[in-house]
Amino acid sequence: MPGEGRNPILVAIDTPELDLARALSQSLAGAVGGIKLGLEFFNAHGPAGVTQVAGNRGDLFLDLKYHDIPNTVAGAVRAAVKLQPMILNVHAGGGPAMMRAALEAAEEGSDRLGIARPKIIAVTVLTSMDDGDLDAVGQKGPSTDQVVRLARLTQDCGLAGVVCSPREIAAIRDACGPDFTLVVPGIRPAGAAVGDQKRVMTPRQAIDAGADWLVIGRPITGAPDPAAAARDIMRELA
Ligand code: C5P
Repeated sequence: MPGEGRNPILVAIDTPELDLARALSQSLAGAVGGIKLGLEFFNAHGPAGVTQVAGNRGDLFLDLKYHDIPNTVAGAVRAAVKLQPMILNVHAGGGPAMMRAALEAAEEGSDRLGIARPKIIAVTVLTSMDDGDLDAVGQKGPSTDQVVRLARLTQDCGLAGVVCSPREIAAIRDACGPDFTLVVPGIRPAGAAVGDQKRVMTPRQAIDAGADWLVIGRPITGAPDPAAAARDIMRELA
């Protein structure tokens, strides 16, 4: 659970436009706990773009979801660590050797540079997949069972936590205990447009259920005054 007064909002800056991303990041500094940059932005602007948007504030969740052989993922993590992310992620489905390689690379890489170690977290089952999709790729459902299986594996490998949907929080908390970091998208402030999200919780509900970080995009980035929208969410949480 976030400590007293901690800001648990990670704002998802999902745009290929560098100027917009930079403006959002600047205007939201102080109003959110961090920013999330993902594949859309990274593939448009690369590491240099990330540095321009995130600077070295130390509050970046770099959401690139690595999934490859351990040696390749370790190399990707060593390169990413130079961007000083607070959080990096991999797919738990890459397996234990891959997850351990990511963790070791993050620790070695950051220690060598004398910078803070990023938390390495895992994606369990993409929330876009239903039980039929799991079956199609040869994974055993129901999806919550597979999510919990992979969350336990992630924890056994020494990683810090997982990304999960609001409806998975309780089962993972039960399985992995209070010190496992849960980063939760699919959050909508009361009254906000749901958009393409199917199962949402309000910020208050997600924190009460056991979320540590709330990934929130459009309700903040699409607001006329993004910083005010973030502050409204913090008031709802206070
Ligand atoms: O705009 P919105 O609040 O829906 O953005 C949520 C962010 O979290 C997006 O970057 C989206 O890709 C990400 N995400 C998600 N659901 C998941 C995993 C990631 O919405 N299961």
